[in-house]
Amino acid sequence: MSEQVDTRIERLVRELNEHNYRYFVLGAPAVSDEVFDRLMAELAELEAAHPDRVPPDSPTRRVGSDLSGSFPAVRHEVPMLSLDNTYSEADLVEFDARLRRELPGEALEYIAELKIDGVALSLTYENGLLVRGVTRGDGVQGEEITPNVRTIRSIPLRLRGSDEHCEVRGEVYLTRENFDAINKERAQREEPLFANPRNTAAGSLKMQDPRLVAERNLSFFAHGLMTPEPQHDRHAGSLDRLERLGFPVNPERRHCSSTDDIVTYWRAWDQDRESLPYEIDGIVVKLDALAQQARVGTTAKSPRWAFAFKFSAERVRTRLLKIALQVGRTGVVTPVAELEPVLLSGSTVSRATLHNAEELERKDIREGDAVVLEKGGDVIPKVVAVVESERPPDTRPFDFPETCPVCESNLVKDESEVAIRCVNSGCPAQLKGRIRHFASRTAMDIEGLGQALVDQLVDTELIRDAGDLYALEVEKVAELERMAETSARNLINALERSKAQPFHNVLFALGIRHVGATVARTLADHFGSIDRLRDATAEEIEAIHEIGGAIAASVHAFLRDENNAAVIDKLREAGLTLEGEEQTAAGPKPLEGKTVVVTGSLTRWGRQQAQEAVRAAGGKPTSSVSKKTDIVVAGENAGSKLEKAKELEIEILDEDEFASLIGVA
Ligand code: IVH
Repeated sequence: MSEQVDTRIERLVRELNEHNYRYFVLGAPAVSDEVFDRLMAELAELEAAHPDRVPPDSPTRRVGSDLSGSFPAVRHEVPMLSLDNTYSEADLVEFDARLRRELPGEALEYIAELKIDGVALSLTYENGLLVRGVTRGDGVQGEEITPNVRTIRSIPLRLRGSDEHCEVRGEVYLTRENFDAINKERAQREEPLFANPRNTAAGSLKMQDPRLVAERNLSFFAHGLMTPEPQHDRHAGSLDRLERLGFPVNPERRHCSSTDDIVTYWRAWDQDRESLPYEIDGIVVKLDALAQQARVGTTAKSPRWAFAFKFSAERVRTRLLKIALQVGRTGVVTPVAELEPVLLSGSTVSRATLHNAEELERKDIREGDAVVLEKGGDVIPKVVAVVESERPPDTRPFDFPETCPVCESNLVKDESEVAIRCVNSGCPAQLKGRIRHFASRTAMDIEGLGQALVDQLVDTELIRDAGDLYALEVEKVAELERMAETSARNLINALERSKAQPFHNVLFALGIRHVGATVARTLADHFGSIDRLRDATAEEIEAIHEIGGAIAASVHAFLRDENNAAVIDKLREAGLTLEGEEQTAAGPKPLEGKTVVVTGSLTRWGRQQAQEAVRAAGGKPTSSVSKKTDIVVAGENAGSKLEKAKELEIEILDEDEFASLIGVA
């Protein structure tokens, strides 16, 4: 047993138990279901491969028990298993391939169903009468909640036209409409709101007073039928029979003959799920032939003939209160949704990007609309759709303004791009954006110069450009809101420290369009100083490998602009670094004037190439070590020359140190 596996299992168990606690006890999940499922899958796999290492507190031993202790426990005649699930097409293809291996030469037909985001329920009928409703519990035994189940009006108390014995399994859920109504009432009574329909349905089923359960208006879809004597040979037949017995069965089920069919169904529902009156979190794919189901069987946890194929991004609905416009540092005007706060993937969201005017128009997003938000991974939440059926009567299409919401100058739409811009470089919103960029960690790294302070500095006209920052005085800054002598002094000190930032950071901080941190470094390395860069023609700039025409034109124009030149002069006066340290126009010469001996064998260079590299870095390669030698580069099996270098106390570099000195990674 490798220590690594043990450590990984231990970590996963610790992490998953923490997530469980946050989700179930605190009601404040830290990760999305997708992330949780992935960690759980990794743990299950490791434990399956090392069954002797399953810790006693592993969450896999729990299998999602919902036993509360307040209802009688009942053992399931047939365990209520869960489903293997995935978010990836590759796993779906593997599921199909595995079944084909296990059922060689046989035709496989599948039934794809919607995966209702609700609560599993088992119903027992004797002589055609409902006698028991039981929760899934830990899969082996559940809780008997028959009185509560009887309140669900879509569940037949007596089978239609049959007095057979059977067990029906399905999903209890709450429609979005009922969920909203419940929360509205709770809001009126100033009670805490429920997070989502699924949790509300689960909580409702566990209430002690069935009259209160009845008020919740729960719904049900049946998706499985078990009878003592098999009556069908296909799952599709069971679903049809369930319908005839009086159960609601989801009508969106689909017969699929290939993984392509399944993927098409999955994609279509991922797109359309918002049109349904209830929530789904994926699809369930089941082998249709019951004989085939029986032959592939089940594992301890899940049937091998069924698979849940989930939707990956978490979505929630909320209300769009206002469409605000944000002017960025380059003047681009971005519409931003101000939302009624909702919980999404573990955090409260009250703003989301609406991208641009075209997108607003295409989706016809309006103030007051019910909208669907999505967050995949850790990207910024976005508005993916409008729920038109829930549009209030008095909304109007959003009118994108023709003037800048901040400085009121005319907005311009570039023919070549979707962006709408404020082209007034004096626009206070742009200035604020530029200053924030200038101060940011990857640029000048000015600690304490956050958005609120930048806003005040610009609004009070203490600064008109980045150059003015370095002329700020403690007394003036201390007079600003929420500032005092100490915080003002801290800011001035941070500004002072920022003067040591290298040239490429300053170049990046200037906020030249198209010049990101990498391009700034390339330009700084190549030209070595702001003056040489300013004196270069656009063609000379473009001649650099990796620098395209748009970047070259932008840099050239920026540095020749009078206002920008004035800012750069102020920065120069303040003592910022406007040239590189060791660089010259011809590139870095880290070994200038040094005598260098290379000995032993190197992996990156042959002997001659190494000498060439020394020369290119400005050094003088020689073959014997003497007092005049400045550096000895020692490779593998370096012998007497290395000994001599040690004796003479000459600087010795290994291959990696040499490589990094001459700038070869
Ligand atoms: S079939 C062996 N069909 O998803 C389990 N389940 O994680 C067979 N669910 O516990 C379940 N919609 O509560 C099946 N159309 C559907 C479903 C569905 C939702 C739930 C069910 C199950 C869970 C699996």
